Formats: sequence, structure tokens, C-alpha cells
Amino acid sequence: MSKTLFIVISISLMLWSCGGKTESAADTQVSSTDTTSVEKDFKMYEMSEMATLMEQMYVDNQRLKQRIINGDTIGNFPEHFLNIHGSVMTDEGERDSFFKDQAAKFLQAQELIYNDSLNAKQHFNDAVSACVRCHEQKCGGPIPRIKKLYIK
Ligand code: HEC
Repeated sequence: MSKTLFIVISISLMLWSCGGKTESAADTQVSSTDTTSVEKDFKMYEMSEMATLMEQMYVDNQRLKQRIINGDTIGNFPEHFLNIHGSVMTDEGERDSFFKDQAAKFLQAQELIYNDSLNAKQHFNDAVSACVRCHEQKCGGPIPRIKKLYIK
């Protein structure tokens, strides 16, 4: 893999992950000529089960958004979203009562899209807000990305 590609990939992975200091960390890396530190960070970033599920939910909801905009059929609730309750997290200490509560509210909001598809757009945006509400407490980094899901 070329050095540049390597750096680009590790920076984008860092930008997608949790935490508020990701941007300054990325700045440091761009200006750094010391690639060993980049490689170390790259190896340190391993996606947890939960992070992988989150990325999958993101992609699924991007597709769902497009179907709603196009007026296509909505399909069925994606059952793997239920894994939000059990997937292993980077920091298991985050699985507190707030997390469990928000996870349940998010799933309810997401299910409504399928159960009341006449109002799919409204329910979809409510589900995105439920993503954001949990993230405000638990994982601030991806919030700007999540907000791009809103249907205007
Ligand atoms: C109940 C709380 C909660 C809800 C609801 C939630 N998330 Fe997350 N999300 C988290 C936590 C905690 C992490 C960090 C997971 C980890 O690192 O193990 C995370 C991580 C992420 C990540 C970063 C994954 C990575 O690459 O490291 C993205 C993107 C994301 N969530 C998108 C979403 C989207 C989109 C939704 C709604 C469809 C959503 N989340 C709903 C708590 C939540």
C-alpha cells in the first residue's frame, strides 16, 4: 500500500470514530513525516462489533433514505438493528442505563418507519434524531455525519 493511501485511510477511520479531538489528531498526522506513529495509530484502531453494526446501520439508512425520497417501497425492518442491545463495544463501560434507554427508543423510532410507512419521512427523521441523542452523550465524533442522513 502506498504511504499516502495508508495515511488517508487511517485519518478517515479516525474521523469516523468516537471522540471530539479527532480533527486535531488528524492535523498533526498530515504534517507529520514520521510514518511510524501513523502506522501505530492505524493498528490501534480496530472496529468493535458495535462500531461495525453502527456503520452497517448508517449504510442501511442511507439506502432507506433514498427509497423514501424516490417513493419506493420501504421493505421490512432490518432485524440486525436489534443487535444494538448485545454487540460488544470498544468501551463496555458505556453500556449504562442511558445507553439501554436510548437504544430502545431508537429501535422504536426505526420500527415506526416500517409500521407506518405513509409517514415514513417524518419517522425516518425522528429515528435519525434518536441516533443523534445517544451520540450527544456517548460518541460525539460521528454526529456531523449522522446529521447528513436527515431528509430535508
Ligand atoms: C444507544 C446509543 C446509540 C444509538 C441509538 C446510535 N449509536 Fe452510533 N454509536 C454509539 C456508540 C456507543 C458508538 C461507539 C461504538 C464502539 O466504538 O464500540 C457508536 C458509533 C457509531 C459510529 C462510528 C463507528 C466507527 O466507525 O467507529 C457511527 C458512524 C454511528 N455510531 C452511527 C449511528 C447511526 C447512523 C445511528 C442511528 C441509525 C446510531 N449510530 C445510533 C451509540 C449509539
